[in-house]
Amino acid sequence: MKTELLKILRETGDYISGQQLCEHFGVSRTAVWKVIRQLKEEGYVIEGVKNKGYCIRETPDVITKEELKSRLRTVWLGQEVVYLESVDSTNTQAKRLAEEGAPSGTLVIAEEQTFGKGRRGRSWTSSKGENIMMTLMLRPQIRPEHASRLTLLMALATAKGIRKVTGLPAGIKWPNDVVVCGKKVCGILTELSMEMEDIHYVVIGAGINVNQEHFPKELQETAGSLCLELGRKISRAELAAAIIEELERIYELFLQTEDLSELCEDYNTLCVNRGHEIRVLDPGREYTGTTEGINASGELVVQKSDGTWTTVYAGEVSVRGLYGYV
Ligand code: BTN
Repeated sequence: MKTELLKILRETGDYISGQQLCEHFGVSRTAVWKVIRQLKEEGYVIEGVKNKGYCIRETPDVITKEELKSRLRTVWLGQEVVYLESVDSTNTQAKRLAEEGAPSGTLVIAEEQTFGKGRRGRSWTSSKGENIMMTLMLRPQIRPEHASRLTLLMALATAKGIRKVTGLPAGIKWPNDVVVCGKKVCGILTELSMEMEDIHYVVIGAGINVNQEHFPKELQETAGSLCLELGRKISRAELAAAIIEELERIYELFLQTEDLSELCEDYNTLCVNRGHEIRVLDPGREYTGTTEGINASGELVVQKSDGTWTTVYAGEVSVRGLYGYV
């Protein structure tokens, strides 16, 4: 009832009478009032005026199950939400739930991670209650060697979600860092579980720096947050919902072909490496070149400085700008 009540209050955008709410839910006025009181205790500002009803004035920056579900307009992705105050890692938790039989599309989201994981065995630290740490668990029936393409989809969905909600010029540093004005604002970690030759499940975790204002010295050069770029705080729930909605849309497009033929144009438009000189850090050999973006397989198409062409597969290498991170 709480989720539905929030949705009605938000969508009405004006006063809605207690009577209408009672009829809608088939409950007493006291029952409605109790849920309103709970919401107020959680920080929602809801005005109650005699003969007019209830009107929502302010929403706190919460990412609870009810707040997220009241905003999500997806058919299946994120319809199962697991919200945690604290967890070791949302990826690890999503894997546990997958092993227990959770449905494809389950979302795990937390206020804090005590053992956040980054790519290449690194850790991921993110301040409590200010950012988004979320993981989506999927059970795609695709060839395992195509699973890394899901990471690119998540990057695309995140960059588009950020643009939609904040208007910031979010871009993608291939394969899967989301950047705003040269600073990394989101990292993505995809993990795969196989059963024989098939994918058992995939977890795609995104760490997005949303309202964090201070970064440790060693990260200040490369890391940023949306709030620092925009100069105001952003609703994490609104942003998370926009990203998940976009991911559902593009994931369904991806499944039709198992590649990015329908999406690489969009991806390349947002790819910040395009037209820039890059250094490809391939284990054992390093080279420089330029790129116009990815192909339908999600590989970066690079023209090396010696004029020859090559494609770079996401799993193997990382790419740096010649004069810095991007
Ligand atoms: C990177 O190294 O850039 C990837 C960082 C991925 C961090 C996110 S936060 C949510 C999810 N849970 C984790 O433990 N890691 C990912």
